[in-house]
Amino acid sequence: MPGSAMTEKPAAIPSTPSAEAYAEEVDRPLIPDAPEPFALLESWLEEAGETEPNDPNAAALATVDGDGVPDVRVVLVRGLSPEQGLTFFTNYQSAKGRQLDGVPQAALCFHWKSQRRQVRIRGAVCRASSEVSDTYFNQRAAQSRMAAIASDQSQPLAERSIFESRLDAVAEAYPETDFIPRPAHWGGYHLKPVQIEFWQDQKFRMHDRLQFCFINEIWSRTRLYP
Ligand SMILES: Cc1cc2nc3c(=O)[nH]c(=O)nc-3n(C[C@H](O)[C@H](O)[C@H](O)COP(=O)(O)O)c2cc1C
Repeated sequence: MPGSAMTEKPAAIPSTPSAEAYAEEVDRPLIPDAPEPFALLESWLEEAGETEPNDPNAAALATVDGDGVPDVRVVLVRGLSPEQGLTFFTNYQSAKGRQLDGVPQAALCFHWKSQRRQVRIRGAVCRASSEVSDTYFNQRAAQSRMAAIASDQSQPLAERSIFESRLDAVAEAYPETDFIPRPAHWGGYHLKPVQIEFWQDQKFRMHDRLQFCFINEIWSRTRLYP
């Protein structure tokens, strides 16, 4: 109802935790004062790998389109290093690929519910070398490689059967599954972070936040209010 103080809440949306509910929760440690963010991110990814039901390397990738309107979708982070940053693979002609052609800046956000943790990362994005893309492409299952060839990712598909026919044509073209070349429209990106923020849930929304900024080739560290 317009003007109503309370917003309508569907039953599927949980209520905010009560003091009693918080009392039953375990205390979670504060984020350590790490000197740089990569080793900490790696250790959080490892811990998430032990507790997440699937895809601990999944992160939301935010980009902006030509009108400055943000877009976001999940990708799998496949590499992590201080030199290359975070690496993911996709179709260069997809919506995200075209958005990154226009504005080569992006953000990634991991959310590990089982750990009650979030990591936010911002930075410039560049395409991976063809060697990096080939190496990862060749590790994928043959059917996944065929799908990457057959899919015009993000383009309209009138009927699923059209995609299936294209997959059949690719399978016919490459009967030797050992040799399925990476298509030029598919490959990797590196996001080189300039900001990485670690967030750890604490009781009563008194969360812990540690932000790293890369300035003059040095990581600085700041705690933020929740
Ligand atoms: C868990 C998960 C992992 C995904 N991983 C990838 C990925 O690594 N690369 C990719 O192109 N799409 C991935 N997707 C699909 C994307 O979220 C998205 O649907 C697709 O890339 C098209 O996005 P776009 O139209 O914005 O380009 C994943 C989706 C989920 C839910």
